[in-house]
Amino acid sequence: MRILPPGPTSVAAAAASLRAGQLVVLPTETVYGLGADARDDRAIAALYAAKGRPRFNPLILHVADLAAAERILDLPAVALRLAAAFWPGPLTIVAPLRADAGISPLAMAGLETAAIRVPAHPVMRAVLAEFGGPIAAPSANLSGQLSPTTIDACHGPGASVALAIDGGPCRHGLESTIVSLAGTTPLLLRAGAVPRRRIEPITGLLGAPGPADGVRAPGMLVSHYAPATPLRLMAREIRPGEAVLDFHGQLAGLPGRAELQGVPLQGAGRLDLSPSGDLAEAAANFFTFLRQLDAMRAGAIAVAPIPDGDAGEGPGQGLGEAINDRLRRAAAPR
Ligand code: TXA
Ligand code: MG
Repeated sequence: MRILPPGPTSVAAAAASLRAGQLVVLPTETVYGLGADARDDRAIAALYAAKGRPRFNPLILHVADLAAAERILDLPAVALRLAAAFWPGPLTIVAPLRADAGISPLAMAGLETAAIRVPAHPVMRAVLAEFGGPIAAPSANLSGQLSPTTIDACHGPGASVALAIDGGPCRHGLESTIVSLAGTTPLLLRAGAVPRRRIEPITGLLGAPGPADGVRAPGMLVSHYAPATPLRLMAREIRPGEAVLDFHGQLAGLPGRAELQGVPLQGAGRLDLSPSGDLAEAAANFFTFLRQLDAMRAGAIAVAPIPDGDAGEGPGQGLGEAINDRLRRAAAPR
């Protein structure tokens, strides 16, 4: 995979690759995306193949601004209020697809709705401006694996990628929050980088999708984001053979994997998502730390409890819901 630094040259090259129907890895403020021209059936088919993604799982569209989003979706009034509050940024809105949107039906998995957001990352915004069209971009990992928050983690789809731009570590580290406005009541389809508590003042209470609303899609399936090592959630002690994903020092001072095996502690087998208990920091570290611990091939990864719901203070308040959602899917039996 050809990795370029951000700048006018790489932005122009990425836009040219997209126009040529090729795939590009691009940084966003949430996770790295694997981008393709959303109007190009062949590029979208190549994207599904590169990710090993089931064809029934629709993609998120990325556009430069609200006007571009309105050319693709029929946005109700509440969507415009959400857009004013959170775009550019990590909120994805699902709404009815316009008949004349020109999006590849394959990208939408044949649905009559589509998911769209205006991303905030300056590199992604520059590519969108230069390219001038909608970019479909799922996370740049192989389907079912951990989402990439650094360029090093983007090698899964490797061979079929024309180029990648290294935008540094992703600021949020968790995918966008997905809200559906396609039905009679607003639904939270995926907890993510914008906490529920910031959205509900605009939408009213967000419902949970029932079986009938369901896109039967991997990001919403029980087992997803799966590391090779089993996770043991809500750990309050460390067992022999376990690596440790701690939060706020809850498991500090307990004997770790190395000590339990009679070897001095190596450090790498224990990572704390946020020693100070900041959920925004924990979210930003989440996928990278899980990937590092997974690479140790421990018997299991013990994960300290993460406060759920509205807990926490400062910028991270409310992010526990999204982190715990990822943890449950990563821990679910396959
Ligand atoms: O932060 C993000 O959203 C990242 C960055 C790259 O923007 N993208 C991302 O894409 O996480 P992906 O493909 O990994 O997740 C997209 C999710 C899937 O769970 C899919 O089922 C859902 O969006 N989705 C897409 N279109 C939908 C629709 N019309 N209705 C319901 N869900 C939809
Ligand atoms: Mg994904």
